[in-house]
Parts: sequence; structure tokens; C-alpha cells
Amino acid sequence: MTQITLHTLAALKQSGEKFTCLTAYDATQANLVSSNGTEVILIGDSLGMVCQGHSSTVPVTIDDMVYHTRCVSRGNQGALLMADMPFMASAMEEQSIMNCAALMQAGADIIKLEGGRWLCPTVKKLSERGIPTCLHLGLTPQTVSMLGGYKVQGKDTGSANRMIEDACLLEQAGANLLLLECVPTQLAREITMAVNIPVIGIGAGPDTDGQVLVIYDMLGMTAGRRPRFVKNFMTDSGSPQAAVAAFVSDVKENRFPGPEHGFYSE
Ligand code: KIV
Ligand code: NA
Repeated sequence: MTQITLHTLAALKQSGEKFTCLTAYDATQANLVSSNGTEVILIGDSLGMVCQGHSSTVPVTIDDMVYHTRCVSRGNQGALLMADMPFMASAMEEQSIMNCAALMQAGADIIKLEGGRWLCPTVKKLSERGIPTCLHLGLTPQTVSMLGGYKVQGKDTGSANRMIEDACLLEQAGANLLLLECVPTQLAREITMAVNIPVIGIGAGPDTDGQVLVIYDMLGMTAGRRPRFVKNFMTDSGSPQAAVAAFVSDVKENRFPGPEHGFYSE
């Protein structure tokens, strides 16, 4: 399999071809995802909920992330590996650099950090030191307590404009990718057009450059209520391999996400 790089994703954005990302937490999932057409693997701190059984991502540590990144890295067949900075791991600049270094040494190609413009100095320092970053905007689960729950973000003009500014400032600071979670479709489209770097969406409508889902959600394994933006790709597939391939082709051919998976401003 060909090795996917940040250049691959930039070229896909330029050509208008959509790309896909799925989470993986171990070697078997990494092999499944990367062998069936997904360009990016996210070692998400969602592992705190789906692997460890916590009720939020707040308890996840940098050591947990390093362990799972190593596991995923061994099973990966050429996908770009993106690892999450967990809660408070990027609270201070110097500490961020050391935590990102640990994830890169565990096999990550790019590090995802939750937060807006306050992270610009950190992003600049990381970029200067050769560590690519993806900035996660919108619903940032690590700050769920501050947000007052898992709610759609950027619904009013003020917060929408602020998010567009955050995106542009982070791009200027050196961010390589953006990820938008649970934002109105229209706002995600505006942000995707406003920046030159690729934008990945989850619950952000069909117009971002890439789409991401949690592997257990798209395989229909998640217990309890399933969020609006999730589709169970096992329903019409005979195997996990076929489900991943269906997700990839549905994204590339603009069948997923549909209007029923999106959020809209009032
Ligand atoms: O941790 C995670 O799985 C994520 C995705 C939901 C984007 O951050
Ligand atoms: Na995450």
C-alpha cells in the first residue's frame, strides 16, 4: 500500500476528492482501517470512553495515548497516523512539546489538539520543531464541563464568526489540518472554503474535505443511544472489511453524510 502523507491530503483537497479517517485503538483495527481505503487513522482519546469505559475523555493520560499509538502503529498499512493530545497535555507550551514528542516517537505522524486561538503560539513552536498539528474546533469533548454538555457549537453568528477567525489564525500559526466536530453544515462549509489546509468533519455536514467516525460507531458496536451524525455501515455489509470499504466509497461518492446526519443553524 502507498504511504499517505500530508501532501496526499493537500492534493486531495485541491482536486476536490474527499478523504476518510476512522479511529483505531489497536493493531487489528489499524490493519482493518488502513487495508480498506481509509487515508487517516485517528488514535482518538475517545478510547477513554470506548476502550476504558469512562464517561468522558478527561481521565485519559499521555501514557495511555502513547500505549495505544504504539499498538496502532504496528498494525498500520500506510495510513497517516494522527494521535490525540489528551486532557491538559497541551496546557503549557513546554509540556506540549514533550508530550507531542512522546506521541511522535510512539509512531504518530501528526498530533491533534483541542482548542482555538489560544493554541497559536504552541502550534507555531511545534511547527518550527517539525511536529505537524491538527486543531480540533467546535465541540471539543475535553472541555465538555465548560460547554455544559455535548452540544452543537457555532449556532449563533457571534460564535460562528469566532470559529472562522480561530481557523484562519491557526492556519497562519502553522496548523496542517483542522477537525470540526458538531457544527452547523453551513459553518463547516464556510470554514473549509476560508482555509487552504484540509478540514475533517464529524457531525459537520458533507462539505468538509474529509470525514471521520469512531470505528465502533460505524461498525454498529456502540452501546446506547447513537449520535445523529453516526451511520452503522454494518447494516448493509457482510464483514467489517466491507463496512469500512462502504464508508470510504460513500464519502468519496458524496452519499455520506446525508442531510439527516447534519446540524443546522436556527
Ligand atoms: O477522540 C476521538 O475519537 C475524536 C474524534 C471523534 C474526532 O477526537
Ligand atoms: Na478526541
